[in-house]
Amino acid sequence: MSFREDGAAALDWAARYLERVGDLPVLAQVEPGEIRARLPAAPPERGEPFADVLRDLDQILLPGITHWQSPRFFAYFAVSASEPGILAELLAATLNSVAFLWRTSPASTELEFLTLDWVAQLLGLPEGWHGHIEDTASTSTIAALAAAREATGGTVVVCSEHAHSSVDKAAKLLGLELRKTPADDEFRLRVDALDLADAAAVVATVGTTSSASVDPVPEIADACAAEGVWLHVDAAYAGSAWVCPEFRWSQAGVERADSLVVNAHKWLFTPMDCSLLWTSRPEDFRRAFSLVPEYLRTSEEVDSLPDYGPALGRRFRSLKLWAVLRCYGRDGLQARIREAVRLAELFEGWVRDEPGWELSAPRHFSLVCFRREGRDEANEAIVARVNRSGELFLSHTRLNGRYVIRLAVGNERTTAYLKSTQ
Ligand SMILES: Cc1ncc(COP(=O)(O)O)c(C=O)c1O
Repeated sequence: MSFREDGAAALDWAARYLERVGDLPVLAQVEPGEIRARLPAAPPERGEPFADVLRDLDQILLPGITHWQSPRFFAYFAVSASEPGILAELLAATLNSVAFLWRTSPASTELEFLTLDWVAQLLGLPEGWHGHIEDTASTSTIAALAAAREATGGTVVVCSEHAHSSVDKAAKLLGLELRKTPADDEFRLRVDALDLADAAAVVATVGTTSSASVDPVPEIADACAAEGVWLHVDAAYAGSAWVCPEFRWSQAGVERADSLVVNAHKWLFTPMDCSLLWTSRPEDFRRAFSLVPEYLRTSEEVDSLPDYGPALGRRFRSLKLWAVLRCYGRDGLQARIREAVRLAELFEGWVRDEPGWELSAPRHFSLVCFRREGRDEANEAIVARVNRSGELFLSHTRLNGRYVIRLAVGNERTTAYLKSTQ
């Protein structure tokens, strides 16, 4: 078989998958080790046809896939790999660019800086920020905190008790102490409890993982400015909502950040992985990351991507983001974000109207936190039963010590299934 025929079969597989993904059990219904046990323990001696790979993808691997592309995936933060993004991933792999210097891939270097400028415009971020792409928010935060350590000489990272665990991990990796600040009754960092002694950085979150709460960034920015502390804003999930002006209330104070992360692979319809990292202080990133061994010396005086983060070789991630931005446009992005929020609001109303159920946190974006009144064990059992059924996939968190169910809307194929149609 030729590349064209295999390619057509792979594309056909992808198209059929997207058509039927809504009918598959969302959470993989397999036991640990089951998939591996169905595969040969040793690699093949001789090459096999690509058709066999597709066959085994269907027959062996698919039952072990939890379907993040399902419209009934509501766990963690629901995501969508859109069709333009999927196709662009194929093209990026075809080009296989490794952008460690401008000259090793001028187009991918320049498109990355350009698309980050485009997204900054779409989200209403300040002009002139420097943006680049990392794989995940975890890496973006490590990069930002490394720059903060370099710039301030501080030894402590301060965040709220609701900050994502990637902040704990970044502090640990960088040899920084982590100081967690208590949150208020709406799960926002309490500025009156902020202690900035020896701080290198504060990580403020817009859209926390548990409840999508929004830290008071303007007041945190004041405190950081007074003490010369770096402000890193983690808007990994909620930052994409800023494409709609009505959600920009949650951007207040972000214009004063030293660095900001928004994951395009969370709520900007771009396939995993694509984490957008901006900074108003690119020179501090370069001080933290620029390292030019002899074999990388060139005559061009241009920005290179590895000067802003830990990795040297970088794949062409901006191609998929560019494809999404071009094919959806501002209108298309806004319509999808608004629809996700509308559906979350609809579900929130159902919970509010249903006796015996309660909402557990204010809903700002497309995440609803709720529980059945009463014991945690009963709620745990509900989530386990729903997930085992394969009909939906939900996740949970703990708020104020109670087990809480999370329903996150984010897949672009999700539609309302009205109770009256049941
Ligand atoms: C607020 C927040 N920050 C950071 C992360 C980590 O993202 P990543 O998986 O891209 O490292 C998450 C993941 O859900 C998150 O919700």
